[in-house]
Amino acid sequence: MQRAQNVNVTQLYDATCAKCHGRRGEGGGAGTQSFNTKEKFDQKLDKPFFDAIKNGVPDMGMESYGATMTDEVVWSMVVHIRELQRDALRSEFGSPRAVNGVYTSQRAKFKIEDVVTGGLSTPWSVDWLADGKMLVTNRPGGMYVYQGGNKIAEVSGLPASVEQGQGGLMDVRVHPTNGWVYLSLADPAKSGRGAMTKIYRGKVTATGGSARWTDQQTIYEADQQYYSGAGVHFGSKIVFQGDYVFFTVGERGTNMRVQQNDGNPYGKVMRLHLDGKVPSDNPVSGSPMWSTGHRNQQGLAFDSEGNLWDTEHGPRGGDEVNLIKRGANYGWPVRAFSINYNDSPFRTPWNGPGESFALPVFRWLPSIGASGMTLMKGAAFPTWSGDLLAGGLVGENLDRFRMKDGTMVEREELLHGHGRIRDINVHKDGTVYVVLNGPDKVIRLVPAE
Ligand code: HEC
Repeated sequence: MQRAQNVNVTQLYDATCAKCHGRRGEGGGAGTQSFNTKEKFDQKLDKPFFDAIKNGVPDMGMESYGATMTDEVVWSMVVHIRELQRDALRSEFGSPRAVNGVYTSQRAKFKIEDVVTGGLSTPWSVDWLADGKMLVTNRPGGMYVYQGGNKIAEVSGLPASVEQGQGGLMDVRVHPTNGWVYLSLADPAKSGRGAMTKIYRGKVTATGGSARWTDQQTIYEADQQYYSGAGVHFGSKIVFQGDYVFFTVGERGTNMRVQQNDGNPYGKVMRLHLDGKVPSDNPVSGSPMWSTGHRNQQGLAFDSEGNLWDTEHGPRGGDEVNLIKRGANYGWPVRAFSINYNDSPFRTPWNGPGESFALPVFRWLPSIGASGMTLMKGAAFPTWSGDLLAGGLVGENLDRFRMKDGTMVEREELLHGHGRIRDINVHKDGTVYVVLNGPDKVIRLVPAE
């Protein structure tokens, strides 16, 4: 039996499967078809593929591998096939392309425009004050105010943040009716070593050429014992619903050690009253936790039916779209669609005996580095109204989802290859603002008609 930790996924596939299926999955040996068709690049076939490898396809001449491979190794073969398919399909079909500047998607035609092209440093998030001025956060620190695409001020008096790996000054979300500005950031530990996700709210007064952060309140901070030197997985996305603010705290690289534990802040979606008080009907009395078992949730949005969704990073393969339910456990790191970054197998995705983890409604396999997500509203794109738009960092993709009754009923890629997508937010006029990293820019989608 091949032990998972000793296996190199690519080498195993090349040595065992490629003689029939081809190194690039193109097929041809022993009567095999190509894996690389749009029909076969579908999560509905995850389990049938897994079963075919484990049990074999005896009438077609493929042996069963269940006796020599653990389930984790069998699943890693599916992940490898998915990576081959993605590469082959991307090179065959390319990316969404504009004709005379116009992109034609399934339901709308759009153009892209530059909004801010210079002066940003790893911009993280964008939102608007009630008077229409635009706020942009930068991960190393610094929130800028723009009017009509021109920078008019940097906000002074912001709370301290520290750029530590993926963390820094992160999300900005302005409450739609009461004007409070919510910020998430990597808060430096009191000891001076390490950082942890923290949520503040305050007011931004921008007049003339200056802007100030005032009326600061702490909405959420973790106990100092949870501050960590890890540079990864801060979560940090903020969304409002009614009297509540929901936000994400990633697992901070704690992985196996402490993750499956409701008592710590790692890998949680949190829910608090807008002023930071713990709601009396949260799943664990006195705790901000709303759901657990997450890894790094960098997209968070309500759909038009009031369901809460996150997008989150798996390691290599298996970024997730999860329907967030009160008190549910999403299984990280016990269950995952991923393999390890070093090309060794990791987990199987499905519940084992006695497990009842909430499984993702959709998974990107291979990973896209799932980042911002927003609910479409406003006049500009009526045919997208109520849809979710979600972006990817390494995937450089902007996807549109249609959700219905807690399931995904439609998905398409709108953009690909314009840079790492960090945040997406829809302006009240319905145009879609996209924050890019590398190049550090803010662009927007506007209707083409
Ligand atoms: C001796 C040739 C041979 C070898 C070796 C082989 N397969 Fe297959 N495999 C086949 C044939 C033939 C089929 C059925 C025809 C087809 O689907 O193309 C098949 C089917 C499959 C399917 C189902 C495809 C579908 O569309 O339903 C998967 C997945 C698969 N093989 C994966 C693997 C993996 C992974 C390995 C190595 C661990 C492997 N196979 C080794 C010949 C082989």
